[in-house]
Amino acid sequence: MKVVLVNGSRNEFGCIHQALSIIAEELKANGIDSQIIYVGSRACNGKINEAVDELGQAMQEADGLIVGSPVYYASPSGEVIAVLDRLFGKYGADMRFKPASAVASARRAGTTASLDVINKYFSFNNMPIVSASYWNNVHGSQASDVLLDLEGVQNLKVLARNMAWLLKCIEAGKEKDIKAPELEEKIKFNYVR
Ligand SMILES: Cc1cc2nc3c(=O)[nH]c(=O)nc-3n(C[C@H](O)[C@H](O)[C@H](O)COP(=O)(O)O)c2cc1C
Repeated sequence: MKVVLVNGSRNEFGCIHQALSIIAEELKANGIDSQIIYVGSRACNGKINEAVDELGQAMQEADGLIVGSPVYYASPSGEVIAVLDRLFGKYGADMRFKPASAVASARRAGTTASLDVINKYFSFNNMPIVSASYWNNVHGSQASDVLLDLEGVQNLKVLARNMAWLLKCIEAGKEKDIKAPELEEKIKFNYVR
């Protein structure tokens, strides 16, 4: 089983990369593979379609998704939002019912607002949101700062173990013929008519 880890920072090897690396290590210790996909600056240098397709194709095979974003002006990075808008439009069907979570990194503030924004993509798309024992934030200005945020690091490891546990439960369910719920045709209510 495999989890795709999205790095939405402009800084490819900064705090979010550090946070995702901690998650990757803990997933591995729990028998789950992972792959970090860098979308960051690709979203604003003319390579957004390439980044979205790489992610979407990876999600066709993967079992779970974790999106990591730095906080920019108390929101996820514009790069993450641009990629997720397109990813869910084009590849949403390949991601339904796959557990997902979000991680945010800030120097100081804006993480929970950023997590709320990212989690809304998952809840729109039938993706169980994996939680941990706090909100999934770490703090720092450079990668090494994240390692000093001991509470944040512990929470990332809890998140990875919870993700691994849920993936194994879903796999065990398949062996007992427990299928994902059938989808109904979506009712789209229009407020003006
Ligand atoms: C454009 C920009 C806006 C930022 N806005 C915030 C903010 O609103 N709150 C905050 O605490 N940090 C803010 N930061 C700092 C980053 O969120 C923080 O350093 C983060 O950990 C960087 O992660 P990275 O190394 O993966 O890019 C901002 C940084 C940039 C470049």
